Amino acid sequence: MYLVGVTGGIAAYKTAELVRLFVREKKEVQVVMTPGAAHFVSPLTFHTLTGRPALLDQFQVSPGERVRHIDLASSARVFVIAPATANTIGKMAAGIADNLLTAVYLAARCPVVLAPSMNEQMYLHPAVQENLARLRTHGCLVIDPAEGEQACGISGKGRAPEPAQIAEFVRSALREKDYRGLRVLVTAGPTREPLDPVRFISNRSTGLMGYALARALARRGAGVALVSGPTALPCPDGAELVPVETARQMHAAVLERFAGCDLVIKAAAVADYRPSAAAEQKIKKDGAKTALELQLNPDILEELGRRKSEQILVGFAMETERAKEHAREKLRRKNLDLIVLNDLTVPGAGFGSLTNQVCIIDRKGRAEDLPMMSKESLAHQILDRIRPLLPPSRPGG
Ligand code: CTP
Repeated sequence: MYLVGVTGGIAAYKTAELVRLFVREKKEVQVVMTPGAAHFVSPLTFHTLTGRPALLDQFQVSPGERVRHIDLASSARVFVIAPATANTIGKMAAGIADNLLTAVYLAARCPVVLAPSMNEQMYLHPAVQENLARLRTHGCLVIDPAEGEQACGISGKGRAPEPAQIAEFVRSALREKDYRGLRVLVTAGPTREPLDPVRFISNRSTGLMGYALARALARRGAGVALVSGPTALPCPDGAELVPVETARQMHAAVLERFAGCDLVIKAAAVADYRPSAAAEQKIKKDGAKTALELQLNPDILEELGRRKSEQILVGFAMETERAKEHAREKLRRKNLDLIVLNDLTVPGAGFGSLTNQVCIIDRKGRAEDLPMMSKESLAHQILDRIRPLLPPSRPGG
């Protein structure tokens, strides 16, 4: 059961949307409110969304309950308190249990996620900051409030995070950290091969698959270096972004980090060729030369395959014909442990799409066709297949 605690701040209205997101994910949700919260949102709103009465009263017991706050605490998979006001944060930090929500908090042993939300001056007050620091040491997971327009009319830090952000944080908090202590290098995005200072050769890669892998790995506890060609995507939380532009820069960045890695996933679409010479000045259209001379780029993955010792190597293949045959050949030639095959002929798969449909092929040549799914889900599916090839997690790593 997902326990959602609502306290008395204006951002309580956003919690209705958060609850809807959880319900849509097929979670059973029980809402617990402070009396203050009921001034902002009616308990009936949450009752309607969850199918269960929102609970406020510490001393009321319904049929089937024994000790309300203990029953609630022990049935919770996670306790999400959103918004968390300065008042409730203070009580939690001090161990005060004067309402149902704070009593449940003291009894709960599940992960507790807090989304503080209040006026900036209140948020920055040393008392609130000290209380939050204390709650962190007690194991609470605190989502930093956003900066921006606040209900009191001023703009600043203290704004409640959006419901989707809280839901994502909760998913992350609950995911098993089966990659903890492992060091992983992911490459993503296209490379750009300059022709002159304004032009380059590149490809249609947007980086979505590689970034989804980096995000999934960070969530599962891995130390992630994301060597990425130019994309429009933000660096996933918890990953270290190493921006590069050309194949040769990617080659250097990857080789520099390779020795210290347990796993390399090469999702980047590396340009196979580069212009033999990049002009120092912009090429003018004087028609003097119309042919482009190209030269082969280093094959990064093939080189890793030659150098590898204990590392697990995962490559991607993008094919348009005789896909599995070509992918198996690539896996052998590059000495890979696994290859993820994108078939560009399938609608909804490949470059720029939020979904993907792939086939995963292992060293024994066994091929597993996966159904079409979001790149986020696929990232986890790929990691599930890789995990048994790696050593056990290193605790504390
Ligand atoms: N790759 C690489 N360095 C290159 C080219 C590709 O590391 N210079 C990696 C990609 O990141 C990917 C895998 O090799 O994981 C397969 O890339 P792909 O372009 O499909 O295969 P190629 O080996 O380049 O073969 P071809 O272009 O002939 O299909």
